[in-house]
Amino acid sequence: MKQGAATARSNIALVKYWGKRQARLNLPAVGSLSITLDALATETTVRFDSAFESDDLVLDGERRPEQLERVSQCLDIMREMAGVSLHAHVASANNFPTAAGLASSASGFAALVAAANAALGLDLSERDLSILARRGSGSAARSIFGGFVEMYPGQDDDGLDSYAEPLLAAQDWPLEVIVAITAQGRKAVSSGSGMARSAASSPYYGQWVATHAQDMDVARSAIAARDFEALATVSERSCLKMHAAAMATTPPLIYWNGVTVECMHAVSAMRRRGVPVFFTIDAGPQLKAVCEPTAAAAVRSELAEMPGVIETLHTGLGPGVEATVSAP
Ligand code: PMV
Repeated sequence: MKQGAATARSNIALVKYWGKRQARLNLPAVGSLSITLDALATETTVRFDSAFESDDLVLDGERRPEQLERVSQCLDIMREMAGVSLHAHVASANNFPTAAGLASSASGFAALVAAANAALGLDLSERDLSILARRGSGSAARSIFGGFVEMYPGQDDDGLDSYAEPLLAAQDWPLEVIVAITAQGRKAVSSGSGMARSAASSPYYGQWVATHAQDMDVARSAIAARDFEALATVSERSCLKMHAAAMATTPPLIYWNGVTVECMHAVSAMRRRGVPVFFTIDAGPQLKAVCEPTAAAAVRSELAEMPGVIETLHTGLGPGVEATVSAP
């Protein structure tokens, strides 16, 4: 029996990833830049044992055979690296709502590859873990690291140049995030199929890709200078460009509900009043308001009072993936 465990945090992209340059190795068409969220964590245990007849996945206490294929694909690569053919049982628990657009796949695959690395004694570098996590989910490559993180799209066909790297530690610019939950339940269209459909039919997809690198440059400089206003402007622009490309897809991909839109207006109005806050939204209806710590309490109470907001979560920026001691 070989067992390992790890904890990883979710992340949200400020400059978004949307679209793949190669589907087989899950290579992104564009880079991305994210922050890792301290309070949204996944803890995963991986156990390899000769007694197991197949791989198995239990997520938040429920068996999830429909999600096993992507997990087994990651494990197959790692089994081959370790020269091991044992099946594995994976148990994963999120401390936040799964698949409500809060990037459970990001923390999930980062924790999975780190736990399997510990179990198999592979001693892989963080870069190798980032490359492996990317195979499961593009955003997972970023959850290997804490604070502000950049993901490179790379150019090579083997994908070995497509990984994430830390840009700035969490404590060096300790922004905070309020998540406004505006709907419960799983999203209708996964980001993977949404991206494929946008690339195939959105007239704005080409422009999204063509104008992306300049947003990355602006965001990188804003972070280096701790320039909140510049980061706010480029982050909202990247979010709205991604959603514009998605909305113009046939059939359309509208990830927001009415409450999401009301929250966007509320955040914009707060910033006009001088509150240091901006919004970002992934492929789902939840709004994330990124703010300076001094503004967090006011931002949270304003969003919590918006009609239709079900719940708010408050988090700081967190560390990268951590291997943990697993129960025997
Ligand atoms: O890595 P995936 O398949 O979860 O896709 C992530 C896509 C977005 O969340 C919309 C943007 C991003 O960069 O995280």
